[in-house]
Amino acid sequence: MSGLTAPKGTFDTLPPDSERFLAVRDALTAPLRRAGYRYVETPVFEHTEVFSRGVGESTDVVTKEMYTFEDRGGRSLTLRPELTAGLMRAFIEHRLHTGALPVKLWAVGSAFRYERPQAGRYRHFTQVDMEALGVDDPALDAEVVALGVQGFRDLGLTEFELLLTSLGDATDRRPYREKLVAFLERLDLDEDTRRRAAINPLRVLDDKRPEVQAQLEDAPLVVDHLSDATRAHYDAVRQHLTDLGVTWTEAPRLVRGLDYYTKTTFEFVHRGLGAQSAIGGGGRYDGLSASLGGPDLSGIGYAVGVDRTLLAVRAEGLDLAGSAAVQAFVVHLGEEARRVAVGLVGRLRQAGVAADTVYGGRGLKGAMKAADRSGASHVIVIGERDLAEGVGQLK
Ligand code: HAM
Repeated sequence: MSGLTAPKGTFDTLPPDSERFLAVRDALTAPLRRAGYRYVETPVFEHTEVFSRGVGESTDVVTKEMYTFEDRGGRSLTLRPELTAGLMRAFIEHRLHTGALPVKLWAVGSAFRYERPQAGRYRHFTQVDMEALGVDDPALDAEVVALGVQGFRDLGLTEFELLLTSLGDATDRRPYREKLVAFLERLDLDEDTRRRAAINPLRVLDDKRPEVQAQLEDAPLVVDHLSDATRAHYDAVRQHLTDLGVTWTEAPRLVRGLDYYTKTTFEFVHRGLGAQSAIGGGGRYDGLSASLGGPDLSGIGYAVGVDRTLLAVRAEGLDLAGSAAVQAFVVHLGEEARRVAVGLVGRLRQAGVAADTVYGGRGLKGAMKAADRSGASHVIVIGERDLAEGVGQLK
């Protein structure tokens, strides 16, 4: 290799694309800020247990995709494959549950999964994540889902769809699980799949192989085994969503890649993206806090993939106005004028005007080209003659 390149499955986001990335990221977080969610930061690595206990031992994410390493102090640490478990760890550690509930948080940042890279699937990607913790109220579920929809709408996206279902609670799941296990036992499955089924039979429903899917047509579904209480919860969520003007598709076979979900569970998919169509996903999780040693409190949230949403924006041909970098560009002619130009740029910036100038002595032609490239609406030319008069020319 002649030079170093970015590691497999990672990429650089350079101008002008990086401006669009920021625009997408900010559009996805704006509805959260307007709805009382507060910004938090947690480390990009956590004790491995946060994810093995939080995300679940039966998931691909935990068994195959984590960047786990031992640090020099002999601790097992893992680069976060998602943000929820770390946020919950922080919520418990700082006893946020002792204050007013729900605690509404959002975060944005890097996540890492050792996946087979393809279009829209990377080993390093960025998520906007939000969580509403400590309250189990169907109206809150609807708020969360609607905020996700709002972010996509604000970007101008139309080709996305909300897939919605209820995965029931722990009580519904026990008898359902027995039914599903009995059903799966009658199927022709390989050893690996049987082992998965033993840890989390639901996961088998998500098997993408056609020979497995063909056998699953009559599989029992959770939605058909909800208790009266969870059914009423789900009905209320749907009623609130209707009131909020949100439409959805019932997705009784939706299986999420993480184990913590209960009750309301959803995914946002985009029609223009091919195989990696999920631009976001989330749901309620009753057991996550307790599994991390916290109080028995429920939460709900979602994460949106910023990179995939940017692909969706592109697929719909939307033009996100990349903010013009500067308003004023200062060009000087000759050494004398240069000092004035540098001083002027400094004063413009102090006054809050986005300003830039040329460096490296490129002559008038080069300078005008640079001014053009900068996208500035105003060019200020300072020539030798202007100096004596103390003026510049505005173009
Ligand atoms: P997730 O469905 O695993 O959920 O990821 C959320 C989103 O992150 C996906 O819909 C996708 O847009 C993006 N994403 C995931 N993996 C990749 C990848 N390898 N490359 C590019 N983008 C990717 C979660 O992570 C949950 N923590 C969401 C949540 C929050 N649930 C409750 N609260």
